[in-house]
Amino acid sequence: MSNESIGSAESDRASRIGWDDYADDYHREHGAFLGVESPDGAFIWSPEKLDEADARLLGDVAGRTVLEIGCGSAPCTRWLRNHGAKAVGLDISAAMLRRGLSVGPLPLVQASAERLPFRDASFDIACSAFGGIPFVADSAGTMREVARVLKPGGRWVFSVNHPMRWIFPDNPGPEGLVAEYSYFNRTPYVERDANGDAVYVEHHRTIGDRVRDLVAAGFRLVDLIEPEWPEDLTEEWGQWSPLRGKIFPGTAIFVSEKVS
Ligand SMILES: C[S@@+](CC[C@H](N)C(=O)[O-])C[C@H]1O[C@@H](n2cnc3c(N)ncnc32)[C@H](O)[C@@H]1O
Repeated sequence: MSNESIGSAESDRASRIGWDDYADDYHREHGAFLGVESPDGAFIWSPEKLDEADARLLGDVAGRTVLEIGCGSAPCTRWLRNHGAKAVGLDISAAMLRRGLSVGPLPLVQASAERLPFRDASFDIACSAFGGIPFVADSAGTMREVARVLKPGGRWVFSVNHPMRWIFPDNPGPEGLVAEYSYFNRTPYVERDANGDAVYVEHHRTIGDRVRDLVAAGFRLVDLIEPEWPEDLTEEWGQWSPLRGKIFPGTAIFVSEKVS
């Protein structure tokens, strides 16, 4: 792991280029799992297949204004709209958004999570299923931006890689069970292309960082969900596997509310 620091502009650029490039493969690998092609949509929070239809972390969405951040091809936004929400999806990658529009019309916006192009207090609920939050350089600023566009009392729920996964190699097998990296090293993980340009950047934050960022932005933490690996789930997703899922969590879902 290097010691380089990557700012907001370079992180956003890397995400835009990287996710545009990865969009087809991502959907080949995970599209069916996520219910992308379903005209009803689906809201899957994580590789443990936690389904919003069962978990209800967002509460009653019917009639509520909802912003989904890092929506990708937007199966969650579609699901929300089919459940009566006035939902809008936002993502930095045009290729990911185009995949969503190929299934059917949806209100989608191309922008970064760090600068939300909406007025103050526009939404009742904001949500993100592994979208954007692990990839932004300014996590604290992003939390403030989400707080800005939410109404007082609004709910903000987001899933990310469980911070403790950072200490292990990115490997679903037995090699991925041996701790190798410091939990306290916030140096981002970066992949570069042949020209040396960053094309994938992931920013680690500890559990404490995430709670601090939320509280500083004016949120109250309501719950922290660590989904357990279901007995009958055999499908691996990158470093998420039944082997590792039996022993330690792969996902953290922060459930918070903007203090009124
Ligand atoms: C792992 S995918 C998740 C997509 C979708 N939520 C899903 O469950 O399939 C991550 C998404 O975050 C988007 N993303 C990355 N950085 C972002 C940023 N700064 N702002 C908004 N979206 C971002 C990517 O383009 C990608 O679509």
